[in-house]
Amino acid sequence: MGRKLLLHNDHVPGIHTLDVYRANGGYASVEKALKTMTPDQVTDEVKKSGLRGRGGAGFPTGMKWSFLAKPEGVPRYLVCNADESEPGTFKDRYLMEHIPHALIEGMITASYALGARKSYIYIRGEYFYVSRILEQAIDEAYAAGLLGENIMGSGFSHDCYVQVGAGAYICGEETALLESLEGKRGNPRIKPPFPAVAGLYGCPTVVNNVETIAAVVPIVNMGGEEYAKIGVGKSTGTKLISASGHINKPGVYEIELGITVEEFIYSEQYCGGIRNSKKLKAVVAGGSSVPILPTDLILKTAKGEPRLMTYESLSDGGFQTGTMLGSGGFIVMDEDTSIVKNLFTFSRFYHHESCGQCSPCREGTGWMEKILKKFLDGTAVESDVDLLWDIQSKIEGKTICPLGEAAAWPVAAAIRHFRHEFEEIAKKKKFNDVSHYERLRKANA
Ligand SMILES: Cc1cc2nc3c(=O)[nH]c(=O)nc-3n(C[C@H](O)[C@H](O)[C@H](O)COP(=O)(O)O)c2cc1C
Repeated sequence: MGRKLLLHNDHVPGIHTLDVYRANGGYASVEKALKTMTPDQVTDEVKKSGLRGRGGAGFPTGMKWSFLAKPEGVPRYLVCNADESEPGTFKDRYLMEHIPHALIEGMITASYALGARKSYIYIRGEYFYVSRILEQAIDEAYAAGLLGENIMGSGFSHDCYVQVGAGAYICGEETALLESLEGKRGNPRIKPPFPAVAGLYGCPTVVNNVETIAAVVPIVNMGGEEYAKIGVGKSTGTKLISASGHINKPGVYEIELGITVEEFIYSEQYCGGIRNSKKLKAVVAGGSSVPILPTDLILKTAKGEPRLMTYESLSDGGFQTGTMLGSGGFIVMDEDTSIVKNLFTFSRFYHHESCGQCSPCREGTGWMEKILKKFLDGTAVESDVDLLWDIQSKIEGKTICPLGEAAAWPVAAAIRHFRHEFEEIAKKKKFNDVSHYERLRKANA
């Protein structure tokens, strides 16, 4: 049984309330940090833990915190990214909905380390009901003296606010998020300056994902070194994985980083294998923007080593034969899945969500959607595969924010690993779903 540090008490009745949360050891990290540690000592523990940002990019959290500019007399902010709009990702929602105090506790402890008098939780508009749960938890924390003036008599004062977005994927990009939080249209900013220097209202700001902030709680409680003993290499600690698709047990799982992908998919403890005893065809391991991998490459690296649920192992082989852990949105596809149809769904999403600032993304996402639609309509020609490839290659690296990459990578990977499916449709001038396609292939074999 893997160790759980974030979801260890998610099934305790009433754990969303302050009383039950505290009765189960809640807010110990606040007490420990505020009463026995300096802010720098808290940051040091986070550095020692090896914690990497759980929002997608995996940037080392302690290092990010140490980049925070600290000019005298200027406020600093902690902003929690609860936008969670990457298709296939729903772990932050689970954590906030079931154990809201885990995030509030992390916000207080992290804000103490950063010297932030105020913090904000920016939550996606579709999670309105979760924002209510968080607000209730915040009210309870104020009433108990865990937020507000002079917390636990420590001299540290802190206010935490919830801000609901309007349901735009781009507002998960940290600088678009800050624009939106300031009441403006959520367009990503040109960097530098980075938020650590000029973030919210032009002040030094740390933006961290919900899970990253919640992980500060066990790190402070157990110590960074103990935390770093869990996991493999530079992938330390536990990770929440949102598992969806054609599996027997979809849901949110907390894994110790380092288990094999095979164990995660097939063991009863996690996904419980492929639904209806079908064969595995492909996996998108880290949310819709990361490259899809076919069965042979998701279970084993190109070197033949078992693929592990770690940042390093999943990206082994680069994008030729590897992928990314990303946000941990693990989408499993069985043998009947049409890669082309799935890609169309992803591409339509990125086209819809492009903010339109950069022409390669604004125009390119639209073209990719249109060409993919031709495949579904049966009007695509064989050269459309190369055209699609050409368009995606002209987006990557040419935009202000990585939404361009998020839109281009899935297209590139689908063509790289499943080109035959595109060509077959273009040749036949007819889109068949893959169950039919696979039957034909077997019949012709
Ligand atoms: C288009 C786009 C959408 C993003 N959406 C999210 C999101 O919903 N949640 C999140 O934590 N990070 C998201 N990110 C990453 C953030 O920009 C940022 O890297 C992250 O919040 C940093 O937190 P971390 O270091 O704790 O991972 C997104 C990035 C891009 C480019």
